[in-house]
Amino acid sequence: MDQVAQIIAETAKVAVKETADAPPPQFTGAVEWPVEASLGKGLEGAIACESQIGYVDGTKGWLIYGGLNVFDLAEKSTYEESSYLTLNGKLPTRAELTEFEKKLKDYGAVPDEVIETLKRLPKETHPMAALRTGVSVLGCLDPNADEPTVENEMEISIKLVAQLATIAGAVARIRKGEDVVPPDLELGHSANYLYMSTGEKPDELLARIMDVALILHIDHGMNASTFTTMVVNSSLSDMYSSVVAGIGSLKGPLHGGANERVLYDLNEIGTPDNTEPWYRAAREQKRLIMGFGHRVYKAYDPRARILKPLAALMAEKDPEMRKLYDIAIKLDDLVSTELGEAKGVFPNVDFYSGIVYTGLGFETAMFTPIFAVSRIAGWCARALEYLADNRIFRPRAAYVGPMSADYVPIDQR
Ligand code: ACO
Repeated sequence: MDQVAQIIAETAKVAVKETADAPPPQFTGAVEWPVEASLGKGLEGAIACESQIGYVDGTKGWLIYGGLNVFDLAEKSTYEESSYLTLNGKLPTRAELTEFEKKLKDYGAVPDEVIETLKRLPKETHPMAALRTGVSVLGCLDPNADEPTVENEMEISIKLVAQLATIAGAVARIRKGEDVVPPDLELGHSANYLYMSTGEKPDELLARIMDVALILHIDHGMNASTFTTMVVNSSLSDMYSSVVAGIGSLKGPLHGGANERVLYDLNEIGTPDNTEPWYRAAREQKRLIMGFGHRVYKAYDPRARILKPLAALMAEKDPEMRKLYDIAIKLDDLVSTELGEAKGVFPNVDFYSGIVYTGLGFETAMFTPIFAVSRIAGWCARALEYLADNRIFRPRAAYVGPMSADYVPIDQR
């Protein structure tokens, strides 16, 4: 027995003596958890905190930010104003909005080190992995990153709202071997993001559609990426680390990554006539239909309601877009009719967004970053709200394994 093993054996003897009155519990096979708790896989139904930021009513198909219905915001607001609302809990006065917009512009450019790092990534890097890396580098370069006060993290949050768009734009350009486009101070946030991504200044209609798409994605309750961001922030880590984790979570195909998959599927279907055979085969193989279903919505997602007619506008652009839209409409019909009432499976936000993004000029791999460029406001807002009355997240698992197995030396197993 080596010296360390000896120390541990002695310590264990003392521990066993001290806890002699409490012999190790014998596992009975029954699931054990505090009686008042119940097992909710995926934390389904668990309430982790109170929030004033936003509300989703999945039965009615409502989405509210700070008391305002998302239909109202999409119609009347801007991304800048709606993200201010989310971060501050109220609509800004004119002076407050002007100051917020100025900050977003002032913070818009990112340090060269970030762009240089993005350029050195392998060509095949997933854009969400690149985005994650860009934010990580930003955090390394910010001397104020590690002061976990609400005031400091609010300023970092505004920086991140501004800079995530710039990084996502740079990622879109670099992966196609094109020059990085710096932000244009004359453009609003959404128009600028589109410009930095495509290299072309959008007309009013495209800029407005981009803006609506970003408004629609700002917040959506305790979804996986928001919760992930909050969990990391609750350890008083730093907002950059928290957002890096949020991006990682959003990347998955069961979350933000679904919109990419939708476009791949629509292209695989190929023609409107092939929609039903494709759908039947997918159902036969028990495959999930991407862009449908939601943990919270058991009704038509209000964001999909807004994106659907915007996708129809894109269908007017060219025959290719028209074909994608016609396939999407057919698939929506089939799924909503067969799984809507029966299972509460309707189109979610990701179903029509891909067609809108294609029409705006984004390549499919850049869809999920668009989601992040918007959701950054919701991630930060909820992490900040929680930070003000912080308690580190620490759920429990119901242990169902053995309790007192013997350590068998390796040669005897
Ligand atoms: N295609 C086919 N059937 C589905 C789909 C779908 N997209 N979604 C749910 N169902 C079925 C389930 O298999 C289940 O069937 P069952 O009763 O026979 O077991 C039933 O509908 C109910 O499913 P839920 O329990 O309500 O779904 P859950 O909450 O577990 O999952 C999720 C929600 C992960 C979003 C799921 O619907 C899904 O994987 N959808 C496809 C991926 C997608 O579009 N993700 C984006 C979500 S939105 C977002 O994150 C931004």
